[in-house]
Amino acid sequence: MSYFHIPLLAMEREIGREETKKLISSFTCPRNPDIVNYLKKSAIAHAAGGITQTHLIFAKKENVPVMIAYFTIMPKTLFISDKSVNQLPPKTKAGIVSSAAYDEYRKQYELPATLIVQISKNFTDNANRMISGADLLEIALGMIKKAQSLTGGSIVYAECNDNKKLIEYYKPNGFAIFGERLPEASENDRNSGKMIKQMLKIID
Ligand SMILES: CC(C)(COP(=O)(O)OP(=O)(O)OC[C@H]1O[C@@H](n2cnc3c(N)ncnc32)[C@H](O)[C@@H]1OP(=O)(O)O)[C@@H](O)C(=O)NCCC(=O)NCCS
Repeated sequence: MSYFHIPLLAMEREIGREETKKLISSFTCPRNPDIVNYLKKSAIAHAAGGITQTHLIFAKKENVPVMIAYFTIMPKTLFISDKSVNQLPPKTKAGIVSSAAYDEYRKQYELPATLIVQISKNFTDNANRMISGADLLEIALGMIKKAQSLTGGSIVYAECNDNKKLIEYYKPNGFAIFGERLPEASENDRNSGKMIKQMLKIID
């Protein structure tokens, strides 16, 4: 299967805001309403404001383009404590220690990174069957690598609900858990009592 990607802003320039909204209104993800809400309510405004960039992934079905997935990324400074760095696999730890700035006072490393804000297949009309999660992540990582080759940075990180399946999605692709945080008020795991897991990878 061959895929092509269109940044949300480029799509808006091409077909206009109303048509873009119509297109993304067909996106569904029953497993995670936050992902749908973000795309429909925030993605265009955040992209226009330069806060995040959202990328729509398409494949052709009987020669008609179908939106099969999307992901949103943003640059972010990552702060990782000594304790968290020490829990990382040796190669990842060495990569961070050798390249990050170290704050003696706070006992933490500070480094430029890219956050995968959202990543999801589109579950409308079985479009999700047209791409694997691994291929989707590979497209995102390829784009992040390209961006970082221009801006600097080599770390990508993702945050996910404390769910074995989601953690297993990132792990085989070289991500390691480095921390956790409380869910924000807007996140659907807010009342679950569970922490959001944070996972990172050095892109080489
Ligand atoms: C995460 C994702 C890209 C992985 O794709 P994939 O590697 O092709 O794997 P699948 O879609 O087959 O899902 C694998 C398993 O994870 C489970 N899973 C996927 N997303 C889940 C979620 N948000 N919550 C709980 N379980 C989830 C699936 O039910 C499936 O379980 P099974 O093995 O019992 O059938 C895809 O499942 C997806 O788009 N999920 C919804 C969005 C999402 O949760 N994104 C991650 C945000 S951190």
